Amino acid sequence: MRIVIVGLGFVGLVTSVVLAQYNEIIGIDIDKNKINKLNNNDLYIYEPGLKELFIKNRNRMNFYNDYENARNGDIAFVCVPTSTINNKIDTSYVEEAVKSLNNTNNKLIIVIKSTVIPGTASSLSYKINNYILSNPEFLREGSAVYDTMHPDRIIIGGKNSEYIETLSKIWEFTNAPILKTTNENAELIKYASNSFLAVKISFINEIANLCEKIPNTDVNIIAKGMGMDHRIGKDFLRAGIGFGGSCFPKDTRAIVSFSHEKGVDLKIIKAAIDINNNRINTALALIEKPIGNLKGKKILLLGLSFKNDTNDLRESKSIELANELINHNSIVYAYDPIIKEYPGINMVNSINSNDYDCIVISSEWEEFKNNALYKENKNIIDLRRIIDLDLYPNVKAIGVHYD
Ligand code: UDX
Repeated sequence: MRIVIVGLGFVGLVTSVVLAQYNEIIGIDIDKNKINKLNNNDLYIYEPGLKELFIKNRNRMNFYNDYENARNGDIAFVCVPTSTINNKIDTSYVEEAVKSLNNTNNKLIIVIKSTVIPGTASSLSYKINNYILSNPEFLREGSAVYDTMHPDRIIIGGKNSEYIETLSKIWEFTNAPILKTTNENAELIKYASNSFLAVKISFINEIANLCEKIPNTDVNIIAKGMGMDHRIGKDFLRAGIGFGGSCFPKDTRAIVSFSHEKGVDLKIIKAAIDINNNRINTALALIEKPIGNLKGKKILLLGLSFKNDTNDLRESKSIELANELINHNSIVYAYDPIIKEYPGINMVNSINSNDYDCIVISSEWEEFKNNALYKENKNIIDLRRIIDLDLYPNVKAIGVHYD
């Protein structure tokens, strides 16, 4: 099929590269810089496996700056960002993209992949001639290519069975189960899923707070024991400094504010946000314990991105921690596998523990799991619970009781 992809950011670019295995891709983005880069085979995001697949499928992808080329498409995926303004979702980019597609080709089936509040697709469909399907995206950064090729499920919202069939065929190669439902259900499934995962993280972080008060407890063992119950599941029970990134913080805020307007108070999700906002205070207390007053102390953070295997800094808890440390007049250094500069932070390329008062593991990269320096009698703090504390007993971790 000739598939138009509007918005070549994270989701749009990965979707383009993966779907180019079996289809012709017409990629559109209003950012000229992005199009120039792609036309020069320069990928502006880092994702494992993306570059290789991009090169392999390159001859089936074309990238443009304007909507004119959407004229030749059969179906269009809208992958533009949605932000929140005063905690309310802003769907203006989605609206603009849908209207521009409609103006160019009113026969195109339009598929909204962007995360939008329930009712968005239906309200837009009154304004245009095209049919709108909803097809929310669940890929994780750091494993975006894998997740797009091997999703747990495909959710399709809409009523027209012929168009739903067309979209189902595009995703058939993944062999994933397909749930066909209303646009509104599809839109809400995305928010409910992200919110549930965010709640799971805040839940275990609250248990971590409790463990810190009870001798002989360790939140990692509690999570392991809980996760052995298949009804609970072991994933997303890693305690730490909280969730960040471009989705969980934004989506939890948006669904709370949307529900509030509907007269529903989402107490559990609000509590999850609250707990998440408090994680940095917990981290600061743990860092202060061995080194005392933070003023003038040299502190090295390991990892700046919002999680491992990505260079994405959006709503990164590591950055939030760095800023708090700077507010407390600490001298902040950081080592990150990909990010090599950041304003206000002294980036280093190698780690000599003698240079710092404290070393803090703030992102969960594989390469931070083992390091000979953890054996030295230094102040090393694991805020992501990735260190084996039996192997490195000197390391102090979140969610463990210390006298
Ligand atoms: C998330 C969803 O997983 C994905 O389905 C959705 O489409 C987009 O949002 P992503 O933002 O890439 O994906 O990251 P994810 O791996 O879910 O992690 C989110 C945050 O939670 C990170 O900051 C991570 O460090 C943190 N996290 C995750 C924990 O603190 N503990 C965990 O157990 C898991």
